Amino acid sequence: MTSQFLITLLLLSAYTLTSAAKFGRELKDLKKKKEHLTHFKFYWHEVLGGNNDNAAQIIPSIPKYNTTTSFGGLRVIDTPLTLGPKLSSKLVGRAEGLYAATSQTQIELLMIQTFNFFEGKYNGSAINVLGRNVVLNKTRELSVVGGSGVFRFAKGYVELSTYSFDPKSGSSIVEYNLYVLHY
Ligand SMILES: *[C@@H]1O[C@H](CO)[C@@H](O)[C@H](O)[C@H]1NC(C)=O
Ligand SMILES: *[C@@H]1O[C@H](CO)[C@@H](O)[C@H](O)[C@H]1NC(C)=O
Ligand SMILES: *[C@@H]1O[C@H](CO)[C@@H](O)[C@H](O)[C@H]1NC(C)=O
Repeated sequence: MTSQFLITLLLLSAYTLTSAAKFGRELKDLKKKKEHLTHFKFYWHEVLGGNNDNAAQIIPSIPKYNTTTSFGGLRVIDTPLTLGPKLSSKLVGRAEGLYAATSQTQIELLMIQTFNFFEGKYNGSAINVLGRNVVLNKTRELSVVGGSGVFRFAKGYVELSTYSFDPKSGSSIVEYNLYVLHY
């Protein structure tokens, strides 16, 4: 190898290093910030039928599959989140998202939701949640996959348990216990 070739090689690797540093810069201060674990408890209200329907069916279930599981059905939701179990109790946020019936053998939903909070320092921040909801199971669990605002870098989980169900309309009130790690 000639020395000229070696010098070119060195210059090239130095250039690659500095351009990578310009593109991705490590932030040491944020890493030093304290992580918080917060528990939120609220109630999720799904209203089906009537004027206040808040879960719109976008795709109906597919008749050629098991109809009792509603397989293939898809709804888009915008449901109130309240502090107490009554719909008239304090509104702390809204859950926006969608869910699909994804099992051929039981009533089970794949849920994708954002919890958009209105209260105090959480106002304007959101938590993004994804997971499997086996509706008839006593408790179900969804995963926190991220968040925005005060919930940047969020991780955690949500436990769901049905508080009440109206078999006539299909409307339900579900207790949500959210455990979230965030900065
Ligand atoms: C259809 O779904 C129900 C539950 O909703 C289940 O009990 C039944 O076994 C399912 N049938 C088939 C053929 O998978
Ligand atoms: C939340 O913030 C919005 C504006 O971003 C404001 O209009 C609203 O009153 C706030 N809500 C609460 C409960 O502080
Ligand atoms: C069903 O509920 C039990 C506790 O009631 C829980 O341990 C289990 O993980 C749940 N399974 C699913 C699939 O949600």
